Amino acid sequence: MGLFSNLFKKKEPVSSLTDLSAIGVDLHSHLLPGIDDGSKSMEESLILIKGLCDLGYRKIITSPHIMSGGYNNTPEIILSGRDKVREALKEAGINVEFDAWAEYYLDETIMPKIEKRNLLTMRDNYVLVELSYLMKSFSTTTYFYNLISNGYKVVLAHPERYPYYYSQDLDEYKMLKDHGVYFQLNISSLTGTYGQGARSTAEKLIDSEMIDFVATDLHNMRHLGYIRESVKLPYLEKVIGYPKLMNKVFL
Ligand SMILES: [Fe+2]
Repeated sequence: MGLFSNLFKKKEPVSSLTDLSAIGVDLHSHLLPGIDDGSKSMEESLILIKGLCDLGYRKIITSPHIMSGGYNNTPEIILSGRDKVREALKEAGINVEFDAWAEYYLDETIMPKIEKRNLLTMRDNYVLVELSYLMKSFSTTTYFYNLISNGYKVVLAHPERYPYYYSQDLDEYKMLKDHGVYFQLNISSLTGTYGQGARSTAEKLIDSEMIDFVATDLHNMRHLGYIRESVKLPYLEKVIGYPKLMNKVFL
């Protein structure tokens, strides 16, 4: 019975990828020890960074949380943490380009930072932002507008993880893109690690060619396992194959 059921089981399609070297640069992770919910020690940071190198990444731009009341990080704290990790990488003989920006939780505390131009950005004024997972804020579009009209290029982290935006026709997403917001997909959303809603929305966004960047959002070893697992997924191959994928802007 087991033999026959195996014989007739539909074979899942598999990607032809063997690693993630085609992406080259990762732009979202939590790899500075002890300053957010990511890596807890320098040792763990080095293991996670080595894991990304083994997957084929040549450059890692990590992005600690900046969230008022949760993670009160500043550009100074982050840049000093980045320098310590760079030093440790050198000592450990791990050869990878390592930089840092931030993942800003979008609430009213972003406004004075915009006014003082005190945001930690990457390259041509790109800034990475995240939203609440639970509740839609009606101020979000105002914050986006203020960022963009002040010359920032807004990258929305993991758009597939906000359930209040889910719909068959992706209308809310289309509206954000019309405002000029870039979308960064979490690779491991495709494995279902954030739930089936995130997975199917990720696939729809890929089918609609609405993804601009892909990233790991790596926090810990368990998560590294999900990212390794995602290599075999046809949807990952599809999005990596986009001619317009923008990761290379950060190389
Ligand atoms: Fe993150």
